[in-house]
Amino acid sequence: MFRHIIGAALLLALPASAVAQAPVQVTLAVDTARPGAPISRYIYGHFAEHLGRGIYEGIWVGEDSTIPNIRGYRSDVVNALKKIHVPVVRWPGGCFADLYDWRDGIGPRAQRPTRINVHWGGVTDDNRFGTHEFMDFAELIGADAYVSGNVGSLSPYAMNQWVEYITSDEQASLAQERRRNGRDKPWTLKFFGIGNETWGCGGNMRPEYAADINARYSTFVNAPKAMGMVKVASGSTGNTTWDHKAFTEAMMKFGGKMDALSFHYYAMPTGRARGPATGFSEEKWADELELALRMESLIAETKQVMDKYDPQKKVALYVDEWGSWYDPEPGSTPGFLYQQNTLRDVHVAALTLNIFHRHTDRVKMANIAQMINVLQAIILTDKEKMILTPTYHVFAMYQPFMEAVPYPARVTGPQYSFGGHSMAMVDVSAARGKDGKLYLALLNNDPHRSARVATGLTGRARGLILTGPAMDSHNSFDRPDAVKPMPFAAGNGGTLTMDLPSKALVVVAVE
Ligand code: AHR
Repeated sequence: MFRHIIGAALLLALPASAVAQAPVQVTLAVDTARPGAPISRYIYGHFAEHLGRGIYEGIWVGEDSTIPNIRGYRSDVVNALKKIHVPVVRWPGGCFADLYDWRDGIGPRAQRPTRINVHWGGVTDDNRFGTHEFMDFAELIGADAYVSGNVGSLSPYAMNQWVEYITSDEQASLAQERRRNGRDKPWTLKFFGIGNETWGCGGNMRPEYAADINARYSTFVNAPKAMGMVKVASGSTGNTTWDHKAFTEAMMKFGGKMDALSFHYYAMPTGRARGPATGFSEEKWADELELALRMESLIAETKQVMDKYDPQKKVALYVDEWGSWYDPEPGSTPGFLYQQNTLRDVHVAALTLNIFHRHTDRVKMANIAQMINVLQAIILTDKEKMILTPTYHVFAMYQPFMEAVPYPARVTGPQYSFGGHSMAMVDVSAARGKDGKLYLALLNNDPHRSARVATGLTGRARGLILTGPAMDSHNSFDRPDAVKPMPFAAGNGGTLTMDLPSKALVVVAVE
């Protein structure tokens, strides 16, 4: 009755149990009568810090490298990033930002000072990649720039000078200096972060003090008005034991002028082993997915506090660091945070993006940590080789959700439970794309059982499926395409039912 097509290669790759077992019946309900605020394209943003091989090797190899490059930027990486329309990149940190002097990274490269990256491995950074290299990189890939300021160890005066250097078109000294350094026209600086994790590596501040710091710095840091630069206050985190709501409260109450408030959360076990990125148990699969789902309640709690002080929702919430965090790969430098990326990360990414789709009234930006070779990277490199991780493919598959109008959607059916962990077996997001089509993202969290989804819709579903034979299926430099999206189709024009294999993500348009 219903046609169900999965790429032949994929079917061969699936374990017999996933194909043979009777699927679990679940029911989808999409409420098209209650559209939400459009999904900001900035929630598909990225974060690139001077950390490990994120910038150097990952993005920048220099003009003289034997690795093919465009003015020093890896061509393979640039092309891959263009394909997923990266909307924004946050730089230079992270913790790195609060010990970064922007003056170290301008002028002739050979004359720039070498500094020690105390946060990340104690390695030296000769500042080959600085303000010009970052702003040009953002332009090259078509992304907006988000610069994170140093409020921990530099003055408001220094921060304002940095912004003036980047954005001024006047005949004043800083713009002239930029021109002498090779850039005539100002760059557009869309976002500026007033610090990073001021509660921790950004200064270990008390909430009220951090709020005062935001009020002070944001007063003095300004771009030309017409640029509409968004000032992002450094906010709370879901990864500490202290009350993140109290921090949000202090920021909203005493933080002065802010256009957006940041929030960080990593799906990272605390008080127990993080465990390896591959070769993990089902306990670690279930634990990690449950950790990813915590984002929902953390956002809800943060929104509750923000609503109290800003009922008109003028201040946006930016989740400007998120992602999975495991043990570093054996043999890699521990401070470099290099980890493999598997089908488990597909679930972390899709669950998290689906949560952002449910909170579009407030969540207007999110930045996965981090873009290349660090934590939940979308790209890994090894000298001249490059691979796209399963997480990259999630970003590729979710393209139709950029600026789409989300609908409340729910799947009813059994839970996926393991050990002390329990969650909905199937997670969903539904939205009307800019092309007018209805898009569904359906995620089967169960690593063993397949699901049959009665959608309540009519029509045909066409799109892509991302899955693999094992929970830790991943791409390697030897097998770069082990996990990649394959064609998926269901339905014959009548009532639409879709079969989801175990541990699979499906994104389809319903027509
Ligand atoms: O992404 C790695 C680090 O995690 C960042 O530098 C910091 O902001 C966060 O604690």
